[in-house]
Amino acid sequence: MSKKLNIGLFGFGVVGQGLYDIIKTKNLNLEIKKIAIKNPEKKRSLPAEIFTTDRDEILNNPEINTIVELINDTEAAFEIVSRALSTGKNVVSASKKMIATYLDELIELQNKYGTSLLYEGSVCGSIPIIRNLEEYYDNELLHSISGIFNGSSNYVLSKGFLENLDYDTALLQAQELGFAETDPTSDVGGFDAKYKLIIAAAHAYGVIVKPEDVINIGIQNLAASDLQYAREKGLKIKLVPVAKELDDRHVAMFVLPKFVNQDEFLYNVEYEYNGVTVQAAFADQQFFFGKGAGGHPTGSAVLSDIAALRYNYAYEYKKAKSKKDLHFTNNIELNVYLRYEDDDLLEALQFEHIHERYYSDSYKFIIGKINLQNLIDNQQRIFDQRAFIAFADQLTGVSLATARKEAAEVF
Ligand code: HSE
Repeated sequence: MSKKLNIGLFGFGVVGQGLYDIIKTKNLNLEIKKIAIKNPEKKRSLPAEIFTTDRDEILNNPEINTIVELINDTEAAFEIVSRALSTGKNVVSASKKMIATYLDELIELQNKYGTSLLYEGSVCGSIPIIRNLEEYYDNELLHSISGIFNGSSNYVLSKGFLENLDYDTALLQAQELGFAETDPTSDVGGFDAKYKLIIAAAHAYGVIVKPEDVINIGIQNLAASDLQYAREKGLKIKLVPVAKELDDRHVAMFVLPKFVNQDEFLYNVEYEYNGVTVQAAFADQQFFFGKGAGGHPTGSAVLSDIAALRYNYAYEYKKAKSKKDLHFTNNIELNVYLRYEDDDLLEALQFEHIHERYYSDSYKFIIGKINLQNLIDNQQRIFDQRAFIAFADQLTGVSLATARKEAAEVF
């Protein structure tokens, strides 16, 4: 018999309400006792008695044995989750930025107090990727994980590519649909995808990295000329986080726009859908697909974690605890496409193995190889100059067949 969960829920936004909707349709031996909210003035769909604005009313209630944290304030979320874990309450959270930023501390708290923190809903919404990376791939050699980890930016890209909708209108729609973060720069700038990548990589490789050490370049500078170029080549542009084992000692991670060809699984991942491509040594390529944002899809992953807590499930962090000597590095060379205006930027990036160059009055681009560290050093400059950079393995092969082969090796 599973144990009864008495839940204190923090946050009643898109995901909180989605979770509530799902829970009430099931008989799961659990009860939401109280919901903490920030704004008591807001009109709510439930009776007033269930809400509180006092977090202590939940955290100090001995009857509540499980905390579900779904707020969008990173520091407050960390405080709530830390207090819960330190006082014997298990926690489910979907706060990706908080988890990516404080993962070391959160693991330590779980070890110290014997409590469990689960966060499937924090990475790629409804896709069950964390428990898979944690459990299933234990003895598998994972060459890489990559994918589409952010629904809002993918929604904007799909709207632009498939429907010719302008960037601002598409982003507004993603906000209205409840997919985007409070500050959507996190979505379109690749920050949100980076937090998810960091969490996934901790379970895939046992490597725990701070967000400030991983580069993220987003889609804010994407122009019609870039989309047109992709179309002419039969490619799409997607925002793709990558974690790749370079050798048995080093893992690289980055988030960049990427040219994707029709043979890649990610080519057909559109709108708010997410996809995760896992390249494993013996299983070869595997692909996970599902909705990455929205109340019900994310709520379903949160509910799955809640259900797992009924049986005392906890991540073991086996890979992080094992002696495998894997380290994070930015020392990797990448084939990129750069659309630019200022020639100084080219010099700063030090392109090598130039594959293609084009310039007219209105459109200049170069495709070639650069070092990731160079890209990191010039990231702000690229952003300020409204230049657009994208990972371009699919553009540099002698033939498409060769490009595909190289891509298969890289990913
Ligand atoms: N803003 C996120 C996205 C929500 O668009 O993917 C899900 O984490």
